[in-house]
Amino acid sequence: MTNVFLPGLLAGKTAFIAGGSSGINLGIAERFAELGANLVLLARNQEKLDAAVAVLQAKGAQALGLAADVRDYAAIEQRFNEASQKFGTLDIVVSGAAGNFLAPAIGLSANGFKTVIDIDLIGTFNVFRASWEHLTKPGASLIAISAGQGVHPMPFQAHACAAKAGINMLTKCLALEWGPAGVRVNAISPGPIGDTEGMARLAPTPESTAALKGRLALRDYGTKQDVADMAVFLATPGAGYVTGSIFNVDGGNDLGDASADALTPPRH
Ligand code: COA
Repeated sequence: MTNVFLPGLLAGKTAFIAGGSSGINLGIAERFAELGANLVLLARNQEKLDAAVAVLQAKGAQALGLAADVRDYAAIEQRFNEASQKFGTLDIVVSGAAGNFLAPAIGLSANGFKTVIDIDLIGTFNVFRASWEHLTKPGASLIAISAGQGVHPMPFQAHACAAKAGINMLTKCLALEWGPAGVRVNAISPGPIGDTEGMARLAPTPESTAALKGRLALRDYGTKQDVADMAVFLATPGAGYVTGSIFNVDGGNDLGDASADALTPPRH
């Protein structure tokens, strides 16, 4: 595993990561821990949180796992109070809690559509809004986790596309409003990342996995560390003039189909 950042880069910083007990978000938490940050993880399941906290503590980090659903604003507010009571003001907030499944629009109930909007989009508003009173100002970095669905329409993903497009615009609006206080707000849009629940759901078979990899310019899934390293960069003064931007970490997925068939010019 290549380490491109100086040890101790995030020493003395505190990061609050919603959705942090698993997947890409836990990968970000682990990277932050390796670089010296204190961590607060928020997720629904206390057992998963306890396991994630143990992983971070084994890396030498101070870590706290707080259970709440991002759809419950009052609970999120309470969890931010607890986080700042323990660690003081918060330097980094990652909003990554997400829910998704493949379903055609006519296979979705109104509640199915609303559930994904509630978790992804309203959950991101709730986390960022509730964080405001606890942020280090100036200096805090807020990072939303978006996805290619926020820009590219996809079949069976009306709910996720609508939610992620909303997250992209929310990121930009908050960046506008909170920039004067020295709070930066950006988003990362991960492409296909290996070893995640999301990819297990979206490309569940070896055939669908191989087909997807064959369409990527870089011809492989990314890793959780690829996403985490972008989050580290956004959290540091190296990104001090960066706000309201959406960063693809996607092996070129956003560029379109890079399969040999698509790139070979037709013979005349
Ligand atoms: N197709 C169509 N509708 C679906 C569905 C599917 N595959 N999965 C769930 N739904 C619908 C349910 O039928 C329900 O609607 P209804 O009340 O009209 O029947 C609605 O979504 C809510 O489902 P429920 O299971 O009660 O919600 P939940 O809050 O317990 O779970 C989910 C939220 C559905 C997003 C669940 O998949 C989840 O918890 N995911 C978190 C993990 C995850 O998705 N990770 C991947 C991140 S990219």
